[in-house]
This record gives sequence, C-alpha cells and structure tokens, in this order.
Amino acid sequence: MSIKRDKKHILVVGASRGLGLGLTREFLRRGCHVTATVRAAIAGAGLEDYYEQLTLDTLDINSLAQTDAFLARVKSEVFDLVVLNAGIYGPRDKALGETTVDEISHVIMTNAVSLVRLAERLAPRLRPETGVLAFMSSALGSLELNANDASELYCASKAMLNRLTRSFAAAHEYLTIVNLHPGWVRTDLGGPEAPLDVETSARGMADVLEARAGAGGHEFLDYRGKIVPW
Ligand SMILES: NC(=O)c1ccc[n+]([C@@H]2O[C@H](COP(=O)([O-])OP(=O)(O)OC[C@H]3O[C@@H](n4cnc5c(N)ncnc54)[C@H](OP(=O)(O)O)[C@@H]3O)[C@@H](O)[C@H]2O)c1
Repeated sequence: MSIKRDKKHILVVGASRGLGLGLTREFLRRGCHVTATVRAAIAGAGLEDYYEQLTLDTLDINSLAQTDAFLARVKSEVFDLVVLNAGIYGPRDKALGETTVDEISHVIMTNAVSLVRLAERLAPRLRPETGVLAFMSSALGSLELNANDASELYCASKAMLNRLTRSFAAAHEYLTIVNLHPGWVRTDLGGPEAPLDVETSARGMADVLEARAGAGGHEFLDYRGKIVPW
C-alpha cells in the first residue's frame, strides 16, 4: 500500500555506509521521506531521530529474487528521486591477468549491469514530469579524462555504466537522468587519503539533484554541478 506523504520521496539504493548513507542523512535532514536499501542491518548509523521519515528495505542488486521482492513492495510508490548508488572497487592491486572471471563479472554486474537493469524496472515508479533518476558513476569512468592511476577494472565498469546509461536514456527520453561523480571521498571505497568528507559530497550532490527536477535530459555532473566529460 502506498503511504500518503506531503514530503518528497527519495529512494537510495546501497545506503548502509559511505555515500549512500551520507545521501540518506542529507535528504532526511532536508525533510524528505527516504526509502533506503541495505544488504544487512545498519548498526549505529545515527538515523534513529528520523525513524518517521525513513523506510529501511533490503536489496542486493545482483539478486533477481531480492529485486523482484523489493519491486513488489514498492509497486505503489512514487519516487521524486532515485539514487542508484551501490558499487564496489573490486580486487585491489591485482592486474587484469591475475583477476578471476568471477571477480571480473562481480564488478561489472554490480557497477554497471545490475544498476541499469534495476533502473529499467524502477522507471515507472518515478514521478512524471519532475522525477530524477541518478546513477553513481565516477570521473574514473570518463574516457576523455583518461584516468590511469586506478584499477582498470573499476574504471572500465564505470565506463560501461556510462555507456549503458546513454542507451537507457535514449529509450527513456521522458526522464531526467544524472550520472554523478561524487568527488574523491573518504569512504571504505575512497580510502583515508581522499580530500573530501562524505557530508560535503552528499550535500553537493543533493543540491545538484534537487536542481535537476523537471530539467529533462541526461547529464554527467560532479558534486558541484560541473559537467564531467563522457
Ligand atoms: N568514495 C569515492 O571517492 C567515490 C568516487 C567516485 C565514485 N564512487 C562511487 O560511489 C558509490 C558509493 O561508494 P562509497 O565510496 O560510498 O563506497 P562504500 O563505502 O564501499 O559503500 C558502497 C555501498 O554499496 C553497497 N553495495 C555494494 N554491493 C552491493 C550490492 N550487490 N547490492 C546492494 N548494495 C551494494 C554497499 O553495501 P554493503 O555495506 O552491504 O557492502 C555500500 O552501501 C559507488 O558506486 C562508488 O563507485 C565513490
């Protein structure tokens, strides 16, 4: 059953920690209702004050059974914004030749294929006219910026995400779609050397996404709203 709300309704997929948790906190602070999906219970995430605005759900994006069950639970919901944030770095310090087929396929499925497949099925749940669909990409997936200082598999998975979302956008011209670069952020994935904290990145991305409501088109933007070359 759909819950009647006067608040904006945001869905964050992959919200247990890092940027997904940061975005969840930021949108709760802004007075939105947030449906946040996690793979396992969040302990001590500091969301207790917001329990009336928060729906926690379970979803592993690589599980078809969990995806079917999740979509059935939200089948009456209308989302103002969907952020498909889940992602992994993959094996660190391993050359492609040493990486197993299972490891490669896990990175590609998680960072690219499963996110876009989920987007296909969530598209009807976006609010007509103003709904925004966001994919968490990375400047490391930009072919033009040609970053060469990080894992080739991670970079390739984000380039693949970007390419798949271009096709997705062509087939869903009525939607506003944003591929995001959050900056280099101190999370489990970004590491302790990253210059940005989660709060700054999440606040910036929330501003960017709220400003895109109703704008249409498909952009690749960083957390300050600057265009990232494909
Ligand atoms: N940090 C950076 O500097 C940076 C820069 C550019 C782009 N990004 C992107 O930003 C996104 C978030 O990264 P982060 O830095 O916040 O990393 P993180 O702290 O490692 O968090 C990753 C999140 O993705 C979830 N996740 C992983 N696999 C999943 C799956 N199969 N199904 C559902 N959820 C899954 C994790 O859930 P569990 O807790 O269950 O594992 C966790 O919530 C990623 O897409 C990443 O590529 C990050």
